[in-house]
Amino acid sequence: MHPTLLLLHGFPLDHTLWASNIPALSAMAEVIAPDLRGFGQYRATDEVTTMEAYASDLFRILDERGVQRVIPCGLSMGGYIAMAMAEQQPARVAGLILCNTRSIADTAEAREGRRTTAHDARTKGMAVLARAMAPKLLGASTRRTRPDRLPRIEAMIARQRPEATAAASLGMAERPDRTHILRHFEKPALVITGDEDELMPLTTSVSMAHALPQGRLVVIEQAGHLSNTERPEVFNATVTDFLGKNFSQPG
Ligand code: MLT
Repeated sequence: MHPTLLLLHGFPLDHTLWASNIPALSAMAEVIAPDLRGFGQYRATDEVTTMEAYASDLFRILDERGVQRVIPCGLSMGGYIAMAMAEQQPARVAGLILCNTRSIADTAEAREGRRTTAHDARTKGMAVLARAMAPKLLGASTRRTRPDRLPRIEAMIARQRPEATAAASLGMAERPDRTHILRHFEKPALVITGDEDELMPLTTSVSMAHALPQGRLVVIEQAGHLSNTERPEVFNATVTDFLGKNFSQPG
């Protein structure tokens, strides 16, 4: 029996973030890559969508599919949600893969920035936000050597809904520090980041890997914030190795 891998995209993106990972990872796992509430094809939105609300949505989706236990693999906001899942229903979380993310809460300044992003999404529109955000999500090497990635990410952001973007931004501002959840997570755990991630300092990934009793850290070279799509071959090999070592069952 393959384990079930739940791929959770970042902000403000959709499940197509995982397009270059799903085929390779499907060899090792049952892969579920949903759109999070308000993004992609998931049309419901509210004023503020907390990480807890996304986690509840995901458990409901798993219930509907009859899936009991999963390994959430979340990138950035997806990582915040993966940690909320581990807090909400720990018995259903068999392992954790936390990519380009952090377990600590926002500073007051970061929260203020979230309110500005929410306001900008609603008033300036997604095309403006996409132009400003997309270059920051990619590492310098990707921007230089894989120029096709930038228009793809910019288009992915531009097609998201402003209300969903605002709701997610305000929801991220409310998230608590979940480092204690990691400290008590006694199951296999992998922390992945990129050495050119301009949004998450390497120290946040190091701290998470230390907090996790079975935490292992992999830093992907020449990758920025979207390590899964910037260096898909390395990302896929890293996750495949983790699944093979911790979740493969004979027969
Ligand atoms: C993301 O990629 O999901 C965002 O960078 C998360 C955040 O803004 O904290």
